Amino acid sequence: MNILIVGANGTIGKKVTAKFSEKHNITTAGRNGAEEVVDISDANSIKSMFERIPAQDAVICIAGEAKWDYFKDLTEEDFHIGLKSKLMGQVNLVHIGKDYVGSNASFTLSTGVLADDPVVMTTSAAMVNGAIHSFAKAAALELENGQRINVVCSGLVEDSKEKYEDYFPGHDPVPMPKVVNAYVKSVLGKNNGEIIRVSA
Ligand SMILES: NC(=O)c1ccc[n+]([C@@H]2O[C@H](COP(=O)([O-])OP(=O)(O)OC[C@H]3O[C@@H](n4cnc5c(N)ncnc54)[C@H](OP(=O)(O)O)[C@@H]3O)[C@@H](O)[C@H]2O)c1
Repeated sequence: MNILIVGANGTIGKKVTAKFSEKHNITTAGRNGAEEVVDISDANSIKSMFERIPAQDAVICIAGEAKWDYFKDLTEEDFHIGLKSKLMGQVNLVHIGKDYVGSNASFTLSTGVLADDPVVMTTSAAMVNGAIHSFAKAAALELENGQRINVVCSGLVEDSKEKYEDYFPGHDPVPMPKVVNAYVKSVLGKNNGEIIRVSA
């Protein structure tokens, strides 16, 4: 299978990439240090990536940013970061990508536990996660040619524990093999329109 992984060098992305590399042909993508340079917050950048590498059997996105801050301090521009990057970046990967990838190809997007169980400073991040869930369920009704879409929604992952645990009091970190397996389920299973939730 030809699999494009956007965010392949990230904390979660590198574990997912290592797993799929065992049996599949992977193209890594990101803004820095990947085979394909792409900024998902820019639709033109996404389009030119798919022009260069069409006919993927699966597209996995484990990338996208949103600004974390107290609600009282977030500006409208701060909200736009999440809307442009994590939300529209992932929406555009599907909206643009569907015309380039193969029949029966799958899209796997990434959100996180904040959609259902937010913590302080995440009004923007939680909001875009929830929007991605709604988008994926609706898009699954309309994708054609056997194409599928799912979202992996994980809790705080083990490899990010040190960096983020103070922001997630009482959250149990999710073991990395469990997180990776959710991506395997989305790509190699037949699931469609599913929010694949992963917790410890
Ligand atoms: N870490 C967790 O505990 C956790 C849990 C649940 C969900 N998530 C979600 O999963 C995703 C990945 O998390 P992570 O912790 O692995 O993040 P990370 O370590 O910061 O990695 C993010 C990756 O995405 C790439 N990227 C970021 N913005 C991009 C853009 N605009 N265009 C293209 N590539 C971009 C980065 O590479 P470049 O900077 O080179 O572009 C990097 O490879 C995020 O959406 C996060 O919210 C994370």
